[in-house]
Amino acid sequence: MTARPTVVVTRRLPEPVETELARDFDARLNAKDTPLGPDGLREALRSADALLCTVTDKLTAEVLSVEPRRAKILANFGVGFNHIDTEAAKARGLAVSNTPDVLTDATADTALTLLLMVARRAGEGERHVRAGQWTGWRPTHLLGTQVSGKRLGLVGMGRIARAVAQRAHHGFGMKVIFHDPYPPPPEVAAALGAEPRATLEQVLSEADFVSLHCPATPETHHLMNRERLGLIRRDAFLINTARGDVVDEAALVEALAAGRLAGAALDVFETEPQVAPALLTMENVVLLPHLGSATRETRVAMGRRAIENLRLFFNGSPLRDRVV
Ligand code: DGY
Repeated sequence: MTARPTVVVTRRLPEPVETELARDFDARLNAKDTPLGPDGLREALRSADALLCTVTDKLTAEVLSVEPRRAKILANFGVGFNHIDTEAAKARGLAVSNTPDVLTDATADTALTLLLMVARRAGEGERHVRAGQWTGWRPTHLLGTQVSGKRLGLVGMGRIARAVAQRAHHGFGMKVIFHDPYPPPPEVAAALGAEPRATLEQVLSEADFVSLHCPATPETHHLMNRERLGLIRRDAFLINTARGDVVDEAALVEALAAGRLAGAALDVFETEPQVAPALLTMENVVLLPHLGSATRETRVAMGRRAIENLRLFFNGSPLRDRVV
């Protein structure tokens, strides 16, 4: 690197990451952690060499069309990049990178957390104790659903789904089935105790727990629509740690209200941070504020991976995690 490139860091990052950024770049940090919004993003694109951005930055074609633009790379802090119009970025010669691998374990842990919480009514139980309603142990109190030995259906079988399968099969003795248009080699699936299904619909109708692990793309928008939600068994649960818009949230509310599925556990929502008000009132629903990768270790690793992408880019080397 010759001159230190200017990098706008759109949100606060863990301290070791900000220290490294300030050391190696002319880093404009966001001490107040206020989202930049479209105007702030346009200004960043106009005035900096790079943006280190997050899922909360909507980098639409309109925002990316700003002229004159100085920025040459969007180093995304996160594996999912559906908030970036990658076609528009590509058309404008703007590189985009992400941070795969380093958040796989944390996100898989979150999926299992949600699965266990919704099955064992953990949120409901916690609310009960905090409200001072607990009158003591009794054999019929807050009975949940056994997890061990049940059938887990994975929608998508990428890195995070495989880490979920590993935990579910080897940790909880679950039977794992999955559907992915690009399935892993048979020996990889077999080592995870996972059996492929030819269609998504088969997974939905067979599973006790359905966990979503597909990327958000135009093809997966509302993949879980009313019809497919209707294929999930009445005694089965839906878990989403992927992206909110993979599920038609209104259809999910309808299905839950009608008792057409046993419950749902969600870490992501269609229009974050808004959550459909009806979900807030449902006891058989677990809601987390997009915590999938939220461990200190993982967020530092994500920051370091984004920095590595920036360094490679400004050194003229091929990006490790180039998505565009
Ligand atoms: C990811 O990495 O995709 C997380 O959801 C945060 O964006």
